[in-house]
Amino acid sequence: MFANAYQGKKVFITGHTGFKGSWLAAWLLQLGAKVCGFAHDIPTTPANFTALNLKEHIQDVTGDIRDRAALLKALQAFQPDVVFHLAAQAIVRKSYADPVETFESNMLGTLNVLEAIRQTPSVQTAIIITSDKCYRNDEWVYGYRETDHLGGHDPYSASKGCAELIAHSYCQSFFQTGPACCTVRAGNVIGGGDWAQDRIVPDCARAWAAKEPVVLRNPQATRPWQHVLEPLSGYLWLGAKLLTAPDNQRLRGQAYNFGPRAEVCATVREVVEGLALHWPNFQFTMEHKDPKEQAECTLLKLCCDKALAHLNWQATLNFEETLRYTAEWYHCFYSQLAPVMLDFTLGQIAAYVTCATQRGQVWTA
Ligand SMILES: NC(=O)c1ccc[n+]([C@@H]2O[C@H](COP(=O)([O-])OP(=O)(O)OC[C@H]3O[C@@H](n4cnc5c(N)ncnc54)[C@H](O)[C@@H]3O)[C@@H](O)[C@H]2O)c1
Repeated sequence: MFANAYQGKKVFITGHTGFKGSWLAAWLLQLGAKVCGFAHDIPTTPANFTALNLKEHIQDVTGDIRDRAALLKALQAFQPDVVFHLAAQAIVRKSYADPVETFESNMLGTLNVLEAIRQTPSVQTAIIITSDKCYRNDEWVYGYRETDHLGGHDPYSASKGCAELIAHSYCQSFFQTGPACCTVRAGNVIGGGDWAQDRIVPDCARAWAAKEPVVLRNPQATRPWQHVLEPLSGYLWLGAKLLTAPDNQRLRGQAYNFGPRAEVCATVREVVEGLALHWPNFQFTMEHKDPKEQAECTLLKLCCDKALAHLNWQATLNFEETLRYTAEWYHCFYSQLAPVMLDFTLGQIAAYVTCATQRGQVWTA
């Protein structure tokens, strides 16, 4: 899998205690990598990081990416081959409440990560994770391409656009040789182990665990949902290709979208109803607000043709599978099976790889 690129490699992940970072750490462990994580907190309780007991399996450094010296020290102490940068203030609503922290973490934090990479010659490959929200939302119905305008009205989106500009400046100015660096843009990721605020699946998990009704703020909002393993398979495949010549020359400095297949677009209501189908014995209620009060919500879709053309990557799961994987994870967690969550999670990764193999995804070789 991934051309065996991660076996024995040292991989540094910022934001390893978060939703996506903890899944990435678990997958890299399964691939035989030695993992070091750097994050300033465990952002939620519960958290995937604690549910999987990852602290026992990886090197866990507590630190803030706004602290350039601490970050550089951690990177130079570990001497990684590969860096995945995921640490960010990742919640749009929080970015309105604290724009300064959001810009400092997402913009200056990214600058600090890039600068630390520049000063750490062991790094061969770096993947900078931003967001689909880095694009200026022109309210198009078709997917955004990597060449489209960056932008973003809210502080979170703007900070991710800034992170893109900084990363590409470093790619052009410093990483034409040395570390092969790319940025990656994905959005609306779901899966087990997410308890972040203001996301529909964690809202459901919390409410259902407490046997309380789920309040849908915007049931008709349509989003391109994807399971967390989908963009991670893209990040890992891109990282694997950047580790090997001649791909690292061809791909270095590029930006890539990693989104679901075009048909995996559904309303919030369809997501909740679909999740409930896979949650045995669960009773739920949906409380809708008056639709007239709901702000018009625009769809932001990604065009993933470039990832298909350059990497032969495309998403694997359909909508039903995406929801089933997600619901089964939470069901396992809330069924008092928490002690086995690492095994269960590695089992889901294995099942996903089997499915991807059957569907001919090249990264499975
Ligand atoms: N989850 C999604 O749907 C989604 C969609 C698009 C993009 N992203 C991006 O993917 C990345 C990971 O998202 P997530 O959902 O796992 O987020 P998360 O909120 O679950 O985790 C964030 C991680 O970053 C760390 N962090 C935040 N600020 C930090 C700082 N100043 N110093 C050190 N560590 C810090 C946290 O401790 C945590 O480990 C982020 O860059 C996010 O913007 C996520």
